Amino acid sequence: MKKPLLALAASLAWACAAQAADIKLVVNADQPGPVIHRNIYGQFAEHLGTGIYEGMWVGPESKIPNVRGWRKDVVAALKELKVPLVRWPGGCFADEYHWREGIGPRKQRPVKVNTTWGGVAENNAVGTHEFFDLVDQLGAEAYVNGNMGTGSPQEMAEWLEYMTAEGHSTLADLRRKNGHDKPFKVSYFAVGNETWGCGGNMRPEYYADMYRHWATFLKTPENNRPKFVASGGNDQDTTWEDVLSKSVRFNFDAISHHAYTFPSGQWEPKGPAAGFPEAEWISMLSQVSKIDSTLTKTAAVLDRNDPKKRLEIYFDEWGSWYDPEPGSNPGFLVQRNTLRDALLAALHFNVFHAHADRVKMTNVAQMVNVLQAMILTSRDKLVLTPTYHAFALYTPFQDATSLPATIENNPVYKVGATEMPELSATAARGRDGKLYVGVVNSNATQGAELVLQVGANAPKSVKGRLLTATAMDAQNELGKAPQVTPVAYEAQAVDGRLTLKLPAKSIVVVAVEG
Ligand code: AHR
Repeated sequence: MKKPLLALAASLAWACAAQAADIKLVVNADQPGPVIHRNIYGQFAEHLGTGIYEGMWVGPESKIPNVRGWRKDVVAALKELKVPLVRWPGGCFADEYHWREGIGPRKQRPVKVNTTWGGVAENNAVGTHEFFDLVDQLGAEAYVNGNMGTGSPQEMAEWLEYMTAEGHSTLADLRRKNGHDKPFKVSYFAVGNETWGCGGNMRPEYYADMYRHWATFLKTPENNRPKFVASGGNDQDTTWEDVLSKSVRFNFDAISHHAYTFPSGQWEPKGPAAGFPEAEWISMLSQVSKIDSTLTKTAAVLDRNDPKKRLEIYFDEWGSWYDPEPGSNPGFLVQRNTLRDALLAALHFNVFHAHADRVKMTNVAQMVNVLQAMILTSRDKLVLTPTYHAFALYTPFQDATSLPATIENNPVYKVGATEMPELSATAARGRDGKLYVGVVNSNATQGAELVLQVGANAPKSVKGRLLTATAMDAQNELGKAPQVTPVAYEAQAVDGRLTLKLPAKSIVVVAVEG
């Protein structure tokens, strides 16, 4: 008799301990937070490698099916993501871009050396008109990055006039002659890029003065005034945000910030995109917390200098950056894209949602064939990357209203000396009225069970999609069966409890019912 009683007591104790340690996700549906601006899901396309040429632009004469030069297959895949906005033409390239070289008959446009990216010929086939055609085809907004590095205030002001002037002027008439009668809609315009580095190696005070000077001359019709964006800091440095928000007032709506993630945590060597150990899995994913703390720091700086919250933060370059793919031109920034990148993206989204009161735009770097791309192409073939699928899962969060979501008893995921919370979650009320929840399980080897509560109640059921794979570096390669594709996911409440079961290294996005 003694033994079974002891065993029963032990199992009861275990059951109680397990109960006490329930991992819970509690969503407060009645405390709406800020709207998650759809532009948080913005993209970035630079004249870099095959990011634009080949990857998206093949020209109207190409045998690859295209609409006025833009690949039909790529545009169709991007439309599925509801791409809200595209930033162009760079990046570092923007500060060497002269807009007049990209208008008029394509055959007559000058060919230049793309000195920033790979030293290849840039034939200017994609210019202002082609870019606006792309955003029209995508149904997206345009974010144009102006050239401060090698341009002049006059060149920048004239580009804006060319794009936006309504009546009769030589530049407006030239735009008409080149095929666009009505002004283009420029939603956002940046004055320089990475002015602390490739955009001119400036000091923040010098750039702030330059910005004040140049922005004075950026004039457009009032009904077509873009939001003007100053180039801010990099990584965890918020000095630029401080200096700019203290000293600039005119034509100043937002500050951009950049932060890339390298497995080694440093610029060189960065680490491989695939074939990595678990230590490099966690080193990538755990670094997203630095973006969270940088945004908290930036928000504090802006709350001090801009208490009315007039200024927005645009995280207009982010994503993974690995050692270049062996055999590729190192200036083309070609890299593989694996399940790790999908989780990295989803963790970024959860952080951006948490800062949605100030963060109104972000742009993953980059859209096609470059860095953490959505799509990889080779000739007439394309493949959708794991990152593409992470973006696809999160589309219901575009313009959704964020809701507080707290994880109780979140386990710690640890590999060697690196640790991070195992689970990350976000919740929002979608524009369709449904409650959406997104959860990432960063643990590469252990699944997790998470009890979902909305307020004090258990929902009846959830339905959505799950993204995972067998290997940490699972990828989708051209000509091979894809290893990372979303599958349907659902769960029902049992005895008044709804448990989300998350496999190791997975993302789940669900709509909550009941
Ligand atoms: O996205 C690649 C490059 O990274 C961009 O051109 C530049 O702005 C950043 O340093």
